[in-house]
Amino acid sequence: MSEHWKSALESHWAIEAALHPLAGEYDLNFLAKTAEGEGYILKVMRTNCARNLVDLQVSALAHMADQPAASLFPDVLLTKKGLPFVCVEGPEGEARLLWLLQQLPGRSYAQSFPKTPDLVFDLGRTIGITDSALESFQHAGIDRDFKWNLMQSLWIKPELAIVADPIRRSILDKIVMDFTSIVPLLESLPQQALHNDINDYNILVADDFFAPRRITGLIDLGDMCRAPRICDLAIAAAYVVLYQTDPEATLEALVLGYHTVNPLQPEELDLLWPLLQMRLAVSVVNSTKMAQADPDDPYVVISQAPAWQFLEQNTVHAGLLLARLRVACGFPITSSAEAVHAYLKKMRGHFAPVIAANLSVAPMWSLSVEQSCVPVDPFELSSSEAAQVVGALASEDAVCLGYYKEPRLIYTAPAFYKGPWKASDRRTVHLGIDVFAPQGTDISAPMTGRVHVVENRSTSLDYGGIIILLHEIPDGACFYTFYGHLDPSVCETLFIGQIIQAGEVFCRLGGATQNGGWTPHLHFQLALTTKGLGKDWPGVANADELGFWTQICPNPAALLNLPDEKVTYVPTDKAQVLADRQAYFGANLTLSYADPVMFLRGWKHHLFDEWGRPYLDAYNNVPHVGHAHPRIQSVAADQLQRLNSNTRYLHPARTAFAKKILSKLPTGLEVCFFVNSGSEANELALRLARAHTTGKGMITPDHGYFGNTTGAVEISAYKFNAPGGIGQSDWVELVDVADDYRGQFGRDDPDRAQKFADTVDQAIERLGAKDIPLAGFIAETFPSVGGQIIPPQGYLRGVYAKIRAAGGLCIADEVQTGLGRLGDYYFGFEYQDVVPDMVVLGKPLGNGHPIGAVITTREIADSFAKGPEYFSTFGGSVLSCRIGKEVLDIVDDEGLQQNAHRMGNRLLSGLRRLQTKHAAIGDVRGMGLFIGVDLVTNPGSKGEATDLARYVKNRMRAHRILLGSEGPKDNILKIRPPLTITRDDVDMILTILDQILTEVN
Ligand SMILES: Cc1ncc(COP(=O)(O)O)c(C=O)c1O
Repeated sequence: MSEHWKSALESHWAIEAALHPLAGEYDLNFLAKTAEGEGYILKVMRTNCARNLVDLQVSALAHMADQPAASLFPDVLLTKKGLPFVCVEGPEGEARLLWLLQQLPGRSYAQSFPKTPDLVFDLGRTIGITDSALESFQHAGIDRDFKWNLMQSLWIKPELAIVADPIRRSILDKIVMDFTSIVPLLESLPQQALHNDINDYNILVADDFFAPRRITGLIDLGDMCRAPRICDLAIAAAYVVLYQTDPEATLEALVLGYHTVNPLQPEELDLLWPLLQMRLAVSVVNSTKMAQADPDDPYVVISQAPAWQFLEQNTVHAGLLLARLRVACGFPITSSAEAVHAYLKKMRGHFAPVIAANLSVAPMWSLSVEQSCVPVDPFELSSSEAAQVVGALASEDAVCLGYYKEPRLIYTAPAFYKGPWKASDRRTVHLGIDVFAPQGTDISAPMTGRVHVVENRSTSLDYGGIIILLHEIPDGACFYTFYGHLDPSVCETLFIGQIIQAGEVFCRLGGATQNGGWTPHLHFQLALTTKGLGKDWPGVANADELGFWTQICPNPAALLNLPDEKVTYVPTDKAQVLADRQAYFGANLTLSYADPVMFLRGWKHHLFDEWGRPYLDAYNNVPHVGHAHPRIQSVAADQLQRLNSNTRYLHPARTAFAKKILSKLPTGLEVCFFVNSGSEANELALRLARAHTTGKGMITPDHGYFGNTTGAVEISAYKFNAPGGIGQSDWVELVDVADDYRGQFGRDDPDRAQKFADTVDQAIERLGAKDIPLAGFIAETFPSVGGQIIPPQGYLRGVYAKIRAAGGLCIADEVQTGLGRLGDYYFGFEYQDVVPDMVVLGKPLGNGHPIGAVITTREIADSFAKGPEYFSTFGGSVLSCRIGKEVLDIVDDEGLQQNAHRMGNRLLSGLRRLQTKHAAIGDVRGMGLFIGVDLVTNPGSKGEATDLARYVKNRMRAHRILLGSEGPKDNILKIRPPLTITRDDVDMILTILDQILTEVN
């Protein structure tokens, strides 16, 4: 059939093109592609299509061509005779109207991932621009009877019986009822021409994956009609929410985008949610009807499944959504909000005291992420911690206050989480003020109110007794106050509707056994509306939703006769820290991520930013046994109470640490040097090698990194060969990294280990030719910055034999690979079946405390001892030695090497599964929790996918997972979590990575 339309295209437009059918409800649409790559959309209208319908669209497009929205809409191509459309005989002799449009760039919104808030905002903007352009468009065709005009959508009401499922039917009944109630308001709004079908297949998105996401066009004006502009936005909203885990945030972005270019009125916002639901209802009723009439047509049910899923699983709180949209658009949260604020301001200082104490002199007690260490485990507040959140103050009769808007980690119950993972979104920010006072303290009403709710919430860590009072101000406006953690006996003394006079004692503070298990205190909160809240007020909000939560529940300080500033928590300003950092430090002290993160607490393999948002740390290998390990905290605190001195005095902690390290190493490695960093350790290793061999020449693999000191940089090709680097010194010779994925010898070559090792021969010769005697060979046992490489087994055996034969020493940098990270091996050289002459340790050895070490043979140490005294002021301090030994003990005591083995295997096999699914994963390599994922542009060519790696890293961060990228072209994802990582966290990494790579596909 397309042959027929192909020749029509040629005869009327003189365009030769291949036709590819596109989906459509009534019309035949084709993508016409010429040999030169030009793209057009050929529209073959349904038989008996009114000319007016095509004329409507052609006229609308002509109108748009003169508007700011021009680039968003396609041009109509005139026929050879200069006509916008023609009537052509179809293959069955029927008359069809044909017209031709330029193809717009981009892919459909439905097929574009990820649908980020920025993209949704841009969509809102696009619709706003379009509606304002269409406001002045007039055409008789827009005033028609039309089932897709939301103004006429009540046609579904008598059709609802078609939906047999009673649950689905009741959902639709409710939607129709809600819609009916807004009809008068809807009909009172101005009406204009609208696109009216901004669905996910009619929205085009720029295909440039790594650029910011943006809308390139809106297509298909075939459903144009006249209605209030909010209908256009509601229709788009109905499709946009289907794909989102956070529909409220999505709608906020969409509405805000619209509002910035085409300001909305508060009453229009009221209509968005009922209209959105009504559009979905029309869509499912329509498709159910059509499916009945034509069970074989797939198009009719194309959007039904996601629409039903959304309607059935809908958790959107209409009241809260509206509040959120109002705040986003800059409107007061309720029509009486300004009056209530003015009243509270005027009455501040004149309210009756809530407790009999002078709160203006009461000290503040912070439970913030930044200033408090409660709870010790930010994922589990213990009952004893809950009962003593204010520490020593709790035992006194003193009164103190807890901050409004303070981010806290004490809310650890599942109800505070929004997703399945520990690093999922979590509510942290306190919306009330705490008044800590002894159990039994009398509480009075700050002003007259009526009891609205009185209840006992007896679950552990809930509120115990609660009361909500409704207050009316002189002009009739209302607001509510909430009192939590009360003695539950109030349930017997108060009744709903009871009037409480200003200053009347109406409840008392509960003790820990009555108030949910907390230190006795009053949770005092204010709300301007309970619409959407009911009686279950959240006392704590998500940091990213504070914009509207602080409008619903403003600071209640005035009711306590306190200035707002006293009780408002002000977290450290990240932007200021960033500005200060730029002012006080050098530009090559780089930060991760374009929008840097500021972490204020850590626990095991998670980190928390200034608002308490949790992140899974899959990147940092320094906190080897986990962030903030209690045993490390305690030995450090213990030792700092006693003494911290240097190696010139005896101390048993030093020898105990040495013994522990040596117990992990092969015989022969028996002398320890303690320093402060990996760099210092490598620097010392160079001196030891020179002292022992009297040579200076060093051989090392390309792209290696050994540290930031002068000598370490000279052997680190990653640094000296970097742009602006110092270049290669004559005493340093490079060999290829033994990378059997990208290197010259591949995994299919059984002799590759020896062949890579043989490259050392020429390096030795090159040094000889320069008359530079060999001191040794140094390598990261598994090169990390070189791309998380696992050299083939036998490589180091071959290299070491050649180096030793040439009189050199062999140094193994185990900074990244040592101490059990590899799971199967405590040190990487064990896998290579060699014993180095020197082993260098750093990073994980102190779990964050600066420690490095070199361990060598007695013979080498003796050669070095012939020189001047060796002394490092801080290297081997008592504190460092106690911490270092504790780290090694914890690895043993907690079975962390075994955990690295188990979790590493789980992660590696999961990543290999992803590799079979995503062509972008060229290679997965690693051992234990030392893992690299090599991203490629094409698996055949192994082209390095640098942009993709950056993209994935940033998207993972957006999902709260930290990982790095590495390798000469920075295309290798680097995964090196603390060894405490668990199955759930591994599964989170795999799930999210799969999701992100699917977006890219
Ligand atoms: C393999 C290796 N060696 C040495 C160092 C230097 O350690 P430091 O930064 O503690 O000086 C590093 C640091 O990243 C490293 O990865």
